[in-house]
Amino acid sequence: MSDTTGSRSSNTPPPGCPAHGSAVQLGGLEYQQTPSQLYRTMRRDHGAVAPVFLDGDIPAWLVLGYPEVSYVTSHDELFARDSRRWNQWPNIPADWPLMPFVGYQPSVLFTEGPEHQRRAGVITQALEGVDQFELARECQSIAEQLIASFGGSGQTELMSTYAHALPARAVLWMCGMPQGSEDTERLVDDLRISLDAGEGDDPVAAYMRVGERIMQLVKEKRDRPGPDVTSRMLQDPAGLSDEEIVQDLISVIAAAQQPTANWICNTLRLLLTDERFAVNVSGGRVSVGDALNEVLWLDTPTQNFIGRWAVRDTQLGGRLIREGDCLVLGLAAANTDPQIWPESHVGAENSSHLSFSNGEHRCPYPAPLLADVMARTAVETLLERLPDLVLGVDPSELTWRPSIWMRGLTSLPVQFTPAVH
Ligand code: HEM
Repeated sequence: MSDTTGSRSSNTPPPGCPAHGSAVQLGGLEYQQTPSQLYRTMRRDHGAVAPVFLDGDIPAWLVLGYPEVSYVTSHDELFARDSRRWNQWPNIPADWPLMPFVGYQPSVLFTEGPEHQRRAGVITQALEGVDQFELARECQSIAEQLIASFGGSGQTELMSTYAHALPARAVLWMCGMPQGSEDTERLVDDLRISLDAGEGDDPVAAYMRVGERIMQLVKEKRDRPGPDVTSRMLQDPAGLSDEEIVQDLISVIAAAQQPTANWICNTLRLLLTDERFAVNVSGGRVSVGDALNEVLWLDTPTQNFIGRWAVRDTQLGGRLIREGDCLVLGLAAANTDPQIWPESHVGAENSSHLSFSNGEHRCPYPAPLLADVMARTAVETLLERLPDLVLGVDPSELTWRPSIWMRGLTSLPVQFTPAVH
């Protein structure tokens, strides 16, 4: 075993799993480096399905191969989404750090079969009603407001002042929250705290406030429907209860906010650091589209996704998977699988990457298109308004967050000629 993959030195294989004797500590991996290299090392040492330990030495499988991730996500009858199937629950402490991602909630995320089709169908129908041109206009207006708030200073940190705020405001607008009100701004702030708490924040209290405000929104829209996602979910013939709609709206908002924010930032990083884009970056629509797509192949926000749970004993990539085992979808690893890139050059104009996952639970149509509108408008508007935007630090000083789940920067400092109003 190579040190670079952070294997345990003195581990005790969990009962019934000989493969976990050489398992990789996922939390200890060096995520600052190029993920494609990291996953290549793991694939070399372990094959397409690697035994791993999650926080607290909880065993799971990391699915690294493109064919294997495609197989897992398209066989719900073998690999299902309800985390209550997990055979590790007796070993999981109540304050386990990954609990927010795997703890069962009665939302679309954890439903299966016909119930999932019912819930996901309502979301798809409601998102289909979003006019993409109107969304682009709204995103542009949000972008202009955000740029105006820092544009006079000649410098800013784009993660906090721009990339996170824009999709949060845009998705709340889609759901029918009034733009610019104090109430909406409080919700944007609570969303940030609950999804990505900083020093001194209380994510649990913030999450409770998000739930209360979304419940209030649902009640408001029952009384006074409008042309928005919430009202369309309420009017759907599937007849979801208010509680179900609150759960699913929170899933939609959370699922939209974090990945889209990191998609924007990772794209801006590429545009500002890669000389292939440097020549015609400002206003260059083709280049921005190329960069957005390249990021989905090489630096996708949801690099690993937890997960699926085996319905019964089965085989995958030469491994024996036991009923109730947890599988982490290695979406970034699958995107850079040498099997699909034999020339070892990764990146294509097509969108056959697995960044939006695959199968029944994939990011529901048309969410990827709406995310594209948000990300593209955010990047283009910034480059049009601040055409001489450059990094505020040396590219080597940019650091990735030490997370195995979401690939994003700790900060993106930039400088530009102050805009005069
Ligand atoms: C408008 C923006 C977005 C919305 C409204 C949205 C919505 C959703 C929802 C509701 C789900 C749950 C689907 C289910 O369990 O049936 C989901 C799943 C997912 N989304 Fe998105 N999303 C957005 C943007 C993104 C972006 C930008 C990415 C990554 C580039 C992404 C990647 C994923 C992935 C990987 C899953 C997990 C699918 C699985 O379990 O296999 N989403 N999204």
